[in-house]
Amino acid sequence: MIEVQQVTKQFGAFTALEDVSFRVEAGEVYGLLGENGAGKTTMMRMMATILRPTAGNIEVAGFSVIKEPNEVRRRIGILFGGDVGLYSRLTARENIAYFGSMYGMDRTAIEHRIKRLSQMLEMDSFLDRRVGPFSRGMKQKVAIARTLVHDPQVILLDEPTTGLDVTAANMFRQMIGTLQAEGKTILFSSHNMGEIDKLCKRIALIHQGRLQYAGTLQKLREQYGMQDLDDLFMTVVEGSGR
Ligand SMILES: Nc1ncnc2c1ncn2[C@@H]1O[C@H](COP(=O)(O)OP(=O)(O)OP(=O)(O)O)[C@@H](O)[C@H]1O
Ligand SMILES: [Mg+2]
Repeated sequence: MIEVQQVTKQFGAFTALEDVSFRVEAGEVYGLLGENGAGKTTMMRMMATILRPTAGNIEVAGFSVIKEPNEVRRRIGILFGGDVGLYSRLTARENIAYFGSMYGMDRTAIEHRIKRLSQMLEMDSFLDRRVGPFSRGMKQKVAIARTLVHDPQVILLDEPTTGLDVTAANMFRQMIGTLQAEGKTILFSSHNMGEIDKLCKRIALIHQGRLQYAGTLQKLREQYGMQDLDDLFMTVVEGSGR
């Protein structure tokens, strides 16, 4: 469960997010939708306790990011798209294991978990190769495995399919389905409407730091009488007066 409670984030005089509230339930894949600069990454950074809200609070798995950041950190896995920041001289297995040890997992638990993730993500063929020369999609798979090594309850995915081909993106979606069936709470950010539509029933739509809509996609479509998500998004954004 993630509960965003009237969150505002300012960087100096600039307001990146203003009075945003929404709630993600356990076992749900929830979409965080918005254009470039909307505030998606900023929101996820606050959930991950990397940034502190200027006002308001966020509860992750029942713990406050402000009062109990360590409890929050233990229960979340974060994946940021783009540059995934792996150690290029280490193998895929070593990269994942390193993260496991940072979470205090023992060797056996780590090996067990890596085996499972490698199967899930189809990484067996390159698990023991150094990640330096890996393709973008291969690196992204390692980063996904690293995010999940400690079996987090809450999973934050910030544009995770960037750089994945159609096959890998499909595999990724399947994996999200598996995680959802395990009862995980999953927040998925994207500016790709089609992607959100495939994965999420409920979304929060943010435009220039303000929440424009939170609820089911179905209701949003009904409200505006539109099926096409791109059209819908543009209409909501234009109607926001910003
Ligand atoms: N550390 C920072 N200092 C100052 N401004 C920041 C900082 N981090 C983010 N911002 C600003 O906050 C706004 C929201 O940025 P954010 O990265 O959250 O957007 P986003 O929705 O993730 O965009 P994208 O789709 O491009 O990743 C932007 O205007 C950005 O310039
Ligand atoms: Mg971002």
